[in-house]
Amino acid sequence: MICRLNHVAIVVPDLLSAIDFYQDTLGAEVSEPVMLQDHGVHLAFVEMGGVKIELLEKIDESSPIAVFLNKNPRGGVHHLCFQVDDILKAKEQMRDKGVVLLGDEEPKIGAHGKPVLFLHPKSCFGTLIELEQK
Ligand code: CO
Repeated sequence: MICRLNHVAIVVPDLLSAIDFYQDTLGAEVSEPVMLQDHGVHLAFVEMGGVKIELLEKIDESSPIAVFLNKNPRGGVHHLCFQVDDILKAKEQMRDKGVVLLGDEEPKIGAHGKPVLFLHPKSCFGTLIELEQK
């Protein structure tokens, strides 16, 4: 079902400082920051050999990552995203296997304009997992 790791998402308290760190300290390639109002995040991608690291900063307190940041003020790994061929098939398979999905269990358009689903960390050994259609 899973084809590959698409990205690792890291929540950061300050996007520009995080970009400086990945770009200047680590020497990685980082995209221009993008504002995603609908998702409540300001983000940039670190490109690393076909896998991306997504740096996420909250726009305001209504952002879905605000709670995470309040618990982890220095930031931290937020989720892993795996690519799947067919999101609806993946949803059925996860449900059949007893995996708890977040929200109303319907795929939503994610930060990359593709349908995504989130698997609850309690079903995934403490890690939030995003499934994104190829
Ligand atoms: Co993601």
